[in-house]
Amino acid sequence: MNILIFSGSLRTDSYNKKLAQVAESILQGKHQTTYADLKDFKFPVYDGDIEAAGIPQGVKDFGKLVSDADALVISSPEYNGAMAGSLKNAIDWISRLRPIPLEGKPVLLMGASPGAFGAIRALTNSRIPFDTLTAYVYPTTFALPKAADAFASKTMLADENTHKKLISLLDGFSHFAQKFIKEK
Ligand SMILES: Cc1cc2nc3c(=O)[nH]c(=O)nc-3n(C[C@H](O)[C@H](O)[C@H](O)COP(=O)(O)O)c2cc1C
Repeated sequence: MNILIFSGSLRTDSYNKKLAQVAESILQGKHQTTYADLKDFKFPVYDGDIEAAGIPQGVKDFGKLVSDADALVISSPEYNGAMAGSLKNAIDWISRLRPIPLEGKPVLLMGASPGAFGAIRALTNSRIPFDTLTAYVYPTTFALPKAADAFASKTMLADENTHKKLISLLDGFSHFAQKFIKEK
C-alpha cells in the first residue's frame, strides 16, 4: 500500500511535521510511504480568478500525489478551535481537479499542539471537507498534546505508551485502508 503522509502546517519546525515523520517511520517497512511538505507546492489562497487563468502547477502536482496514494495520513494544527487554513486551502484547491483526488480515499487525521488538548477540536471539524468529498475518514483520530515535550527523537514519541498507541492506531488504519484497495 502506498501511503501519503503530510502536515497541514507549513512551518519548518512544525510539531505536526514531526508527528507526521514519526508516523512515517512507523509505517516504513510495512508499506511504501511518501512524505510531502505542503510548503513545497506554494498554493495561492483559493481564488476563482486564478483558477480561471489555469490551475497552478503546485495544485496539480500535489493532487497527483493524493491520486496516486492508496491512503493518506495527515497531521494538522488547530487554529482558533478549527482546522488550519493551509490544510483547508489545499483541500479546496485539489477539489477543483477531475477526477477529485480525495474521492474514496481512506484518511487518518492526527493533530499536535503545545496546548493541553492536542488539536482535538480541529480533528473534529476537519472531517467535514473530507466527508463532503467522499473520502473515508478513519473513525479514530490521534491528538498529541504538550507537543514541545512530546518527541524523544525523529522516530519516537517521548511517552512509551503514547508511542505504542500510535503504532496500534496506524496498524488499525492500515487494515481499514486495505479494504478499500481490495474493493477498487
Ligand atoms: C493563529 C493561531 C491560532 C491558534 N489556535 C490554537 C488553538 O485553537 N488550539 C491550540 O491547541 N493551539 C492553537 N495555536 C497554537 C498552535 O497549536 C501552535 O502554534 C502549533 O505549534 C502549530 O502547529 P505546528 O507546530 O505544527 O506549526 C494557535 C496558533 C496560531 C498561530
